[in-house]
Amino acid sequence: MNGIISIEGGVPLTGRVRVEGAKNACLPIMAAALLCAGRVTLREIPGLQDVYTMCRVLKALGAQTAYNAAERTLLIESGSRLAAEAPYDLVRQMRASFLVIGPLLARTGRARVSLPGGCAIGIRPIDLHLKGLKALGAEVIIGHGFIETVADKLRGERIYLDFPSVGATENIMMAAALAEGTTVIENAAEEPEVVDLARFINAMGGRVSGAGTDTIRIQGVSSLNCTDYTVIPDRIEAGTFMLSAAITGGLVTVENVIPAHLTPLIAKLKEAGCEVVEEAAQIQVSRAGPIRAIDVKTLPYPGFPTDLQSPMMALLTLATGTSVITETVFENRFMHVNELRRMGAHIKIEGHCAVISGRRKLYGAPVKATDLRAGAALVLAGLAAQDRTDVSAIHHLDRGYWRFTEKLAGLGAKIKRLEQP
Ligand code: UD1
Repeated sequence: MNGIISIEGGVPLTGRVRVEGAKNACLPIMAAALLCAGRVTLREIPGLQDVYTMCRVLKALGAQTAYNAAERTLLIESGSRLAAEAPYDLVRQMRASFLVIGPLLARTGRARVSLPGGCAIGIRPIDLHLKGLKALGAEVIIGHGFIETVADKLRGERIYLDFPSVGATENIMMAAALAEGTTVIENAAEEPEVVDLARFINAMGGRVSGAGTDTIRIQGVSSLNCTDYTVIPDRIEAGTFMLSAAITGGLVTVENVIPAHLTPLIAKLKEAGCEVVEEAAQIQVSRAGPIRAIDVKTLPYPGFPTDLQSPMMALLTLATGTSVITETVFENRFMHVNELRRMGAHIKIEGHCAVISGRRKLYGAPVKATDLRAGAALVLAGLAAQDRTDVSAIHHLDRGYWRFTEKLAGLGAKIKRLEQP
């Protein structure tokens, strides 16, 4: 089933909205559940397509999964025997399925995973994942669209990452959790989702320290135990709702957030003329005056998140003055620009920079989501645009936003989802 999200723009959003558990924490933690032979209970798991895809990957590997959407709980039981191969059909749908290679190798000594797919936002190589697994002693064979890793025994090592890749840090951390001796990852990713994975591994009896800094130490253990774990809230979903208040000139309270995870967005929203009030587990965003032009540069955490780059661009299309957005994390993440232009935005691309000349108005138009966060940007633009916007290819949005139209409608948006066969 695919569909269209249809929006009559121009309504300032008001009210309260609750954020789900973080997609980018759930997916690696689901993969890490393979590290223990037993039942893991995960809580605050949203009913996203990516979560269902990962369930199918785990099932293909021989694990059992049971998801309860009403309770947002997911049970994963991986048993003592696992298959070694994650099929192409699933891995091509979602790049994060590649995250099973580390835990599978650690548990079974062999993992065969097809080369990943995922959002079309750049080349997205996996060289750093492989460099890490090789350093731990794995033999890596590449051929016929598959990567195969084999190791009788993984041994702890010092691994320097040329770039603080989130996925590579996670894959290495998972493999190292059951390796012999201590692994040190230098220039590791510091994202909150990496920290959540480390906390999950520790909840299973692992010994990971330093997560959240650029140096992570993993002391391998011989086996890990079942656990019951609640994932952190989704800072990107939270950020999207914060931007929905900003772009429509409304007043929205976003609940179930960790404000510290949103520091760069909060700073940039204030700079752009919004009022932001932080409390223990909620953030209120409102805007009464004009949107001010600002410059934004995406960076690894704690820098401005690349996943909020396109939603932020939607906001800046309506700013007074010229803004510059520099994308440093992915090399092809401006695919939403053409669609925003169709709505009247003035944006020029120069290499890794987008120069946005703010306009007084955006105009509703039929537009197409090209990836997950591009889709979010188009919905935000539609909420602020004059007349009707129809966003198509919304399967991209279903990968990362659960009950998105319902939540926005709950804030007063005139929005509906039209299913198409
Ligand atoms: C994760 C997030 C994604 C987010 C991204 C950056 C998940 C499931 N996805 O993706 O939403 O946009 O972090 O915050 O958590 N790179 C290499 N070699 C590698 C691996 C990565 O060169 O082996 C490069 C990539 O091409 C990219 C950059 O590093 O340019 C960042 O990628 P990475 O941090 O690995 O992102 P993901 O883990 O794929």
